[in-house]
This record gives sequence, structure tokens and C-alpha cells, in this order.
Amino acid sequence: MWHYKLQCFDCQREPAASEAGFRCKTCGGLLEVKFDLKGKKRPSWDRRQLSVWKYREILPIEKQESIVSLAEGGTGLHRCKRLGRKLGLRKLYVKNEGENPTGSFKDRGMTVAISKAKELGKRKVLCASTGNTAASLAAYSARAGMECVVLVPKGKVAGGKMLQVAMHGSKIIQVKGDFDQAFETALVLAEQRRDLYLMNSLNPFRLEGQKTLAFEISDQLDSKTPDIVILPVGNGGNISAVWKGFSEFQQLSITKTRPRMIGIQAEKAAPIAKAVKRRENEILPVHNPQTIATAIRIGSPVNWPKVLKAIKESKGTAETVTDTEILKAQIELATLEGIFVEPASAASIAGLKKLRANRRVDASETIVCVTTGHGLKDPSVLDRLLKSQTGYNLEITDRTSLDALERVL
Ligand code: F0G
Repeated sequence: MWHYKLQCFDCQREPAASEAGFRCKTCGGLLEVKFDLKGKKRPSWDRRQLSVWKYREILPIEKQESIVSLAEGGTGLHRCKRLGRKLGLRKLYVKNEGENPTGSFKDRGMTVAISKAKELGKRKVLCASTGNTAASLAAYSARAGMECVVLVPKGKVAGGKMLQVAMHGSKIIQVKGDFDQAFETALVLAEQRRDLYLMNSLNPFRLEGQKTLAFEISDQLDSKTPDIVILPVGNGGNISAVWKGFSEFQQLSITKTRPRMIGIQAEKAAPIAKAVKRRENEILPVHNPQTIATAIRIGSPVNWPKVLKAIKESKGTAETVTDTEILKAQIELATLEGIFVEPASAASIAGLKKLRANRRVDASETIVCVTTGHGLKDPSVLDRLLKSQTGYNLEITDRTSLDALERVL
């Protein structure tokens, strides 16, 4: 591992190693891991398999023995010719993070953060979540032999994700309200109970794992950078981490350029997209956010300063999409490309369609949409929708129904 330090994202102060916590003690800003990349050359990575730990020199884990892994990363970057043709795009790719061990991109961050927790001697971990962080933390804490507590908004988490958490033996606390209330409760708990180690995206070590998504995209495109990367945005940890990853590869001269970062939010849960559109430097939290994409149903995203900076620096943008647009994109991706993603993930495709319709994306640009979680995690809306369609309920009971089948096939 190369040398790194923790630094405040706002005032640049470097907290002492003895100062626990996830905010700057001086200004309250977000913390960030900073690697010293000056004069560093690309390590000899080529023989290593594509995965999070391929990039271990630029991950903040000191000892190899600390690593807790379930083989995360190494997900497919799929060229989408059929969907691309429909949108009039020549080079469209989907980076499908649903291929990770627990079915979402969260595993990239969790393998690093749990390894760090182990290195720091932590025994109990905690997070608030709309579902995927919880599912991932539950699995990785089980693998590390740690106790795990997750806080979720009551009745607002997809069934598949709740099942994952329960299956891995975590304690589930349901909090009345939205993710934002669950997160506030988690912060209070982490403050009061020093034995509970907070694993939300305020934890800068988690974002280090998530930055490997950018490294992999660059490697999969043979050190070429895409023109545009589009991601769904909830708390904003992922888009900031991916931007950090592209920036580090450029600093190491592995790539020459960085992409435009585009964040997509659901129309009624879009504090970041609204701030970007109004060219404001701060967000206004949304009360009672609503969307079928429960993973990104967040009104007060904690990482907003990092997101606004990433979008601005990259000359990117943000866009909103409706629930209907999300559902349509989800079905299109599944039927045209064989990739089944959860609603939040389909927001990146829906956003691309909108940007393309408004001519804000050129036909010749190389575009990567990140699909963040697997479709089987959150099938409830689709299940209702598809059951009402012909083809879902065809049954064979006898010869007569077989003849009837012939007529519809
Ligand atoms: N897509 C999916 C499937 C997610 O689960 C999340 C976040 C996001 C996108 C947004 O990522 O928060 O880094 O901007 N899910 C969190 C959770 C909030 O608790 O699982 P972000």
C-alpha cells in the first residue's frame, strides 16, 4: 500500500490519527483519503485479475491479512448495441454492478471498509440504509465475524434486500420515516456508543473501494476514458468516489482525460439535480421524498459537497427522471440487452434517454451507464406490471390449452 492521509474535503485540515469520527473536528466537513501519487508509476497490474483488490496499492489497507473479501468487482462492461441503436448512440456500455457478490456496487466499498474495521480492531458495525448498503454490510460483517446492526426506513425497503440482511444474521432496526431519519438515528447511535463503527458513506474508507469502479472501466476500455459516465445518485457517495478514481488514474498518467460525470435522480427525490440545474452551490433538502426507486429515495444526501464538486469539475450535469421513465428503461434494458437491474439502476438509462432526446449527448460519444444493483432485489412493481400482460400467465393443463398456446405464440 502506498502512503495516504486523511484530509478534510472542505478546509483541507488533516485530522490526527487518534481523532476518531467521520467529520472534520474544525469545520464539520467530510473527510477524504488522499494518496500521495506524486512521482508514482503504475504498478505492474496487468497479470492480476480484474477486481477491487487488483488495485491494492491505492487502497488504504496496511496488511494483506486484514482483507475480508467475497470476490468483489470485476463486473462486466457490456457493449449495448441494440439499446444504443434505439437511442442513436454508437458506443454505449453498461457497467453492471449487479454482478457483485451481494448484487450491488456496495460490495466494492464494503470489502475495503470492513477490512479497515478489522485492522482498527472493531467488533461491531452499524449503518443506516435504503437496503443495499445493509445487505452488503450484513454479508461482509458475517464473513469477518463481526456483529452488525442496520437501521432501515420502516416499510420502505425492498423485500429481497431485507431478506439478505436477515439471512446474514444482522440486527434490523426499523425507523419510522425515511432514510434521512434512519441515518440521523445511526449518527446519534454511533456518537453515543463508541463500540459501534459507522459504515455509511461518511466513512471515507468505503468510498476508496467504490473508486475502483472507475479503475475497472478505464482498464476495460484499454486505458481510454469514456466521454460520459452516468450514475444514479442517492447519498452521492458513489458518483464522488468514481470521480476520485478517474482523477487518480489521470494523476498516475494511466489515462489522459477524465469523463463528464452525470448524476440522475428520481424527480421527487432530487435535491442534487435541482441544485445543479439552478447552478446553486448548496442543496435544499427534500422533505418526504417519493419514488419507486426506493434505493435512491433520499431527501438529504450527506455527500452533496463532493457531488457538486465532481459534476462541476468534470463539466458534467444532473438530470431528473419520473417513475414511469425508470420503469420503461428497466424493461428496455432487460428485453434488449438481457440485463436485469433494479429501478434505481435503471434511472441511469432513463436519464440517458432524456439527455439524448434533448440533444445533450452526441451520437459518437463513448457513454458508460452504471447499473448499480440486481433486478431480483426489488421486483415488486415489475411483478404487478408483468402479471397483467399476456405471456406471463400462459399455462398448459391439457391438449386444448396447448392448442390455445399455439395461437398466442
Ligand atoms: N443505486 C442503488 C441500487 C443504491 O442502492 C444506491 C444507494 C444508489 C444507486 C445511490 O448511490 O448513495 O452512493 O449516491 N443506496 C444506499 C443504501 C443509500 O443504503 O443502500 P449513492
